Order: sequence, then C-alpha cells, then structure tokens
Amino acid sequence: ALITLRQLLDHAAEHGYGVPAFNINNMEQGLAILAAAAKTSSPVILQASRGARAYANDFILARLIEGLAEMHPDIPICMHLDHGNNEATCLTAIQHGFTSVMMDGSLQEDGTSLADYEYNAGITRRVSDMAHWAGASVEGEIGVLGSLETGGGEQEDGHGFEGTLSHDQLLTDPAEAARFVADTHVDALAVAMGTSHGAYKFSRKPDGDVLAMNVIEAIHARLPNTHLVMHGSSSVPEDLQEIVNKYGGEIKPTWGVPVAEIQRGIRHGVRKINIDTDCRLAMTGAIRKVFAEKPEEFDPRKYLGPAMAAVTKLAAQRFEEFGTAGHA
Ligand code: G3H
Ligand code: 13P
Ligand code: ZN
Repeated sequence: ALITLRQLLDHAAEHGYGVPAFNINNMEQGLAILAAAAKTSSPVILQASRGARAYANDFILARLIEGLAEMHPDIPICMHLDHGNNEATCLTAIQHGFTSVMMDGSLQEDGTSLADYEYNAGITRRVSDMAHWAGASVEGEIGVLGSLETGGGEQEDGHGFEGTLSHDQLLTDPAEAARFVADTHVDALAVAMGTSHGAYKFSRKPDGDVLAMNVIEAIHARLPNTHLVMHGSSSVPEDLQEIVNKYGGEIKPTWGVPVAEIQRGIRHGVRKINIDTDCRLAMTGAIRKVFAEKPEEFDPRKYLGPAMAAVTKLAAQRFEEFGTAGHA
C-alpha cells in the first residue's frame, strides 16, 4: 500500500532501522526494487527526480507506482519526489499521487547557485504547509551537498553547486539544522557531511576527514526526534565497477560511502538513505555483459531481464544491511 514518508520513517525510528530510497526512471527499476522488497519483506521508498519525471512522464510514473502497489499489497511503499526545486514541482508531484516531496532549497532554483537561509527556510515552509494540507510529507535540506576533498563542485552530471565551497558550507551546522526544522515543519531533514551525487565521491577509501559522520551524530544529539536523510549514499562497490569495466565500460577508480558508515548513521537518526548510482552500475554491468557475451541477441528482454536481476540483488542486500528487512 502507498503510505507517506512520515508514516514510514516514524516506524523506522521506533524500530531503529533505515530505509533505502531508490531512484527509479522506468518499469524495470520499479519491478526489480519491489521484487527485492517482497523477497526481504521490506518497506521501501521509490523516488523520482525531475529528470525521471521528464524521462518517463508523470502519468506513466503514477500508473507504474499504482501498479507496483497493487502487485505488492503487503509492502508499504512511499512515492517520493527527489530534489524538488520550487513549489510547482512539489505541487504537481502531489497531484500525480506522490505521497512525499523533497523541497531542496539549499541551492537556488537553477540548482547550481547558493541560496541563503531565508530563501531555503521560506520556500521549504511554504511547501510544508501545502503538502501537509494535501496529506503528503516533506523532506528539506540544510547545508550544501558536496565533496570535502574538492570543495563541492559536483558538476559532472549537472547536479550541485558551481564553484568551490568552504568546509563549513559543506557540513550542516547542528544549531542551524535545529532552527531550520523549527522554522519549516519538515518531516525529514537531509544533511551535508561530505557525500556527493554520482560515482565519483572519494578518491580513496573515505575516512573521517572526507566523510564527516560525526556531524550526523552532533545533529542527532541536537534533534533526536528528527528523521535524518543521507543523500549521495551509493557505496559504488568495487565488484560492480569491475563488471562494467570488464565488459567495455570506463569507470575510473573511485570510492563511495561504505555500508558500515551508513549503518553508523542509522544508529544516530539516519532513516532515509538515497541510492541511485549503485542501481545504475548494477544495470549497466549486466547489460554490458549480455552485449559482450551474446552479440547476436537483440531482444531487449534478454538484457533488461538480467539488468533487473542485478538491481534486485543489490536492493535486497541493502534492505538486509540497513535493517529494513522483515519490517513490511
Ligand atoms: O539527485 C540525483 C539523483 O541521482 C537523480 O539523478 O537527476 O539524473 O535523475 P537525475
Ligand atoms: P547516489 O548518486 O550516491 O546514488 O545518490 C543518489 C541521491 O542522493 C539521490 O537524491
Ligand atoms: Zn540527492
């Protein structure tokens, strides 16, 4: 059944587990993730970015989610808008049946220039009021997501601030987080502690200098009842990189967020863990393998089937690791 983010994360907090929020853009990703949720009896957050909505169309996404919910009546599903950039994107998502929206006002509407506190708190509060009238939940973000190694600037995929930021700007300030939650009434709060979107998060296995999990602990100490969200939380596993590269891909050496660090976050208030890149790598590796080993194949089901199986395997592993399994 479809439920809100608030309902899902309240349950997760009560029972001390985290919930992966997987980005989806198409039927294969949706079917694969729900297969993993069903196999492990896990509640799940499916999220669509503005890019996903443009790619798959709101009407298709809405029916896809409805179909998945009908297929799996016993699985609690939250349908969430990832990185909404203004009131309109949030409102139209809710009109299309999303049960939760993210208003990301950490950057301005263009997604690349910095926003100040007043802008972020103002627009997030307006979205909260609107979403709550409509019975939907809201995630806000305070602090700017980006790499502590390079000073932000994650422009490779068009996401993130253009230019260099200071250490302070890239780490959420616990006092400011507390003020923001009070000002905006958000149901969940995304915080910044050194992760960034995409495959290239860290140039080496991250330590506390570049992945500041102590910031999460400080925020949780200040806001013990606020559900925290970690963006950029793909682990970018070496074996998935290897499969892509073995079959002709070119992923440069890179590190993601170790699962053990996410588990540490879950012990300190992290309830929603955003994952897109790992599913992309899993799908792409599986498809490349079929293309390389069976060049005579041209039925899309012959490569999209294995791609789904790879996503199901990855998602099931995360449900187990985050303690989500068994809570559907
Ligand atoms: O926020 C980043 C997510 O991975 C979504 O990416 O905007 O390319 O769909 P996207
Ligand atoms: P990854 O790129 O690490 O998968 O992060 C996805 C994300 O944060 C979506 O909002
Ligand atoms: Zn994100």
